Amino acid sequence: MAFLDIRNLRKTYGSAVALEGVDLSIEEGEFVTLLGPSGSGKTTLLMSIAGFTRPDSGTILLDGADITRVDPEDRDFGLVFQGYALFPHLTVADNIAFPLRVRKWDRARIAARVGEVLKLVGLDQLAARKPRELSGGQQQRVAIGRALAFGPKILLLDEPLSALDRKLRDAMQRELKRLHQETGVTFVFVTHDQEEAYAMSDRIAVFQSGNIVQVGSPRDIYRAPGSRFVAGFLGGNNIVSAKAGPGELDLFGVRLPMPAAYEAARHGSGAITVWVRPEDITLGEAAPGAVTVPVTVADVSFVGTSERVTVATADGQELTVLAPSASARDLAPGAATTVGFSPASIGFLARE
Ligand SMILES: Nc1ncnc2c1ncn2[C@@H]1O[C@H](COP(=O)(O)OP(=O)(O)OP(=O)(O)O)[C@@H](O)[C@H]1O
Ligand SMILES: [Mg+2]
Repeated sequence: MAFLDIRNLRKTYGSAVALEGVDLSIEEGEFVTLLGPSGSGKTTLLMSIAGFTRPDSGTILLDGADITRVDPEDRDFGLVFQGYALFPHLTVADNIAFPLRVRKWDRARIAARVGEVLKLVGLDQLAARKPRELSGGQQQRVAIGRALAFGPKILLLDEPLSALDRKLRDAMQRELKRLHQETGVTFVFVTHDQEEAYAMSDRIAVFQSGNIVQVGSPRDIYRAPGSRFVAGFLGGNNIVSAKAGPGELDLFGVRLPMPAAYEAARHGSGAITVWVRPEDITLGEAAPGAVTVPVTVADVSFVGTSERVTVATADGQELTVLAPSASARDLAPGAATTVGFSPASIGFLARE
């Protein structure tokens, strides 16, 4: 039995179904991210775990005990929102002490614990400041410190970094990872940003319209998306049509021996869907053994670390390639070139 076990959860708002048949098991000490587009049910699940949302049916078990109808304050979970919801008139130290006072800890124990938490979140120099005297990232640290102060069984975080700029967000992601490792607390983190999910999570649960459609490690989900939706949502992937014949794959009008990853029973035959990752494609001269496809350049965009080159294949499909700037320098829209990729890098989508 898992530490937190969510079984067949359903939640509706009038005729709108926010969650439908949601199952998720989380182990103690895990960092699990709920990832999905806007409106897919992430916050509804998080709030059901927190106890602020009552599911219509289904069960939430903590350490084997049914907590589906337990009040939020009796669950002992920490909660961090996107808006920090700090008490503006209280200092940093008093914000962190607040949940301990509510729990009637004695003075000495509160002082000791606040000192520990201030160190943990790197705010020991700013203990006497008020929230308005802090940057956004510092305010977020206070909110995280306050949520961790009483030693919650689980820390629930709903898009806590989305208001921060890119650089600060990267720093806070590393910070959250460190806090997770140092405290050993189970983290359930909500985001719609796949890179954020990849960077921090032990496992990711991908949401689509009120359902969890895939659960796995970041690498597993990235390398083996289970559906067109997941493959597309995880970003940047080339999802294209191909033809599967006996022992042969017809891709972009190029015929090649069917790659070993193909299973007729799962992936279908005739018109099928495959993917090739932009970072697995080279532009121009290809490595020996690669599939080589003649293409026409449609667009070249500088994206910082590389160039994102969009090309059109002879059979009218589009491919995105991430190429080192040097290899794309002389390319302009309309230019004829080739792209290459290893047959082993072709992914097959299960027939839906
Ligand atoms: N209090 C509510 N009343 C009515 N409908 C609601 C309520 N809360 C959520 N919903 C609906 O339930 C669905 C799931 O909402 P939820 O807030 O869980 O999505 P989300 O994945 O967190 O989205 P976002 O990324 O935009 O925060 C949406 O269609 C939403 O409109
Ligand atoms: Mg939400």
